[in-house]
Amino acid sequence: MKCTPAVALALLAPAANALLRFPCAQLLIDRRDPLVNPGQSPSPHLHQILGGNAFNTTMDPSVADISKAATCTSCQFSEDTSNYWTAVLYFKAKNGTYKRVPQIPNSGFDGVNGGMTVYYMQDGLYNFQQTSKVTAFQPGFRMYIGDVNARTREQAERFRQLTYTCLDNINTRDPQTLDFPTVPCKAGIMTALRFPTCWDGKNLDSPDHMAHMAYPESGTFESGGPCPATHPVRMSQLFYEVIWDTTQFNNKADWPEDGSQPFVWSFGDGTGYANHGDYIFGWQGDALQRALDAPCYINCPTLKSQDVAAMNKCTVEREVKEDIDSWSTTLPGGHVANYVKR
Ligand SMILES: *[C@@H]1O[C@H](CO)[C@@H](O)[C@H](O)[C@H]1NC(C)=O
Ligand SMILES: *[C@@H]1O[C@H](CO)[C@@H](O)[C@H](O)[C@H]1NC(C)=O
Repeated sequence: MKCTPAVALALLAPAANALLRFPCAQLLIDRRDPLVNPGQSPSPHLHQILGGNAFNTTMDPSVADISKAATCTSCQFSEDTSNYWTAVLYFKAKNGTYKRVPQIPNSGFDGVNGGMTVYYMQDGLYNFQQTSKVTAFQPGFRMYIGDVNARTREQAERFRQLTYTCLDNINTRDPQTLDFPTVPCKAGIMTALRFPTCWDGKNLDSPDHMAHMAYPESGTFESGGPCPATHPVRMSQLFYEVIWDTTQFNNKADWPEDGSQPFVWSFGDGTGYANHGDYIFGWQGDALQRALDAPCYINCPTLKSQDVAAMNKCTVEREVKEDIDSWSTTLPGGHVANYVKR
């Protein structure tokens, strides 16, 4: 067969090349967690939550499909009414009181009210081809990654890629550490959470919200590592980036005298090893699979987008009435900072 240039190009062209990267504004900050503590209001610790406005204290998939119940989303792609959440960062001053750390939008997403950047990827971040076949999550799917009780490096190393970057500027990405940065960071602290990418193909959830998912058996998602036989379905890499604006807390005079760092998660972890995140799938119809199967690198013409004002406008009222922003002697829910020396 004679290969004309057009045929050669067609043969080289990937079947699909999708890397979704988009901002989601803050939907609410509240002490609720429908994945780990359904029905509990207040839940043990404070979260920042993004995505569709069907977020609620209880979100049993057998009761409601959130992609139908939501009427708006704080995410750029208006067909994405999923919910994404993490804990909230606090600063502990030398005098022992706590103050909530605000968030800022990522590079390129000016004007977005806090929130975070969400990715769905077919291959590693710096692979501009994005040709691997991945399966989208399905209605009812949810998962969790991390361990609120982890206080040592060994405990944190059970999870891959739950990291911190001390930002020199908004585009700094490396080095990444498993614990909190130990020095003031000029442009804030980024937390990055990469979820496991291999699904058991059967369960939309599991008792610990993790067992239905696994990491590649060898190598990594980035290196195209194979999924284990127990979890054979290669899913897209779900990845969160959250930027905490720690700059107003960079005065070393307010930092602990013993040289330790002053930031603490809303549940009391002062080591950083307990970084964790939650996800409830809520894309409408097959929008996510369609986007993953179509040429789409950051700008995805197959998806409907909304502007920043519409994203910021989608909010849910806080249910737990408590002061989360004044200097306080405890964290919301009565937690205090705790550390385990390395
Ligand atoms: C949350 O659930 C309660 C109780 O079922 C319901 O009254 C309320 O409307 C729900 N809120 C949202 C935002 O769906
Ligand atoms: C504790 O320290 C912070 C930071 O310097 C200050 O803003 C706050 O007013 C102090 N609180 C008390 C009770 O001294």
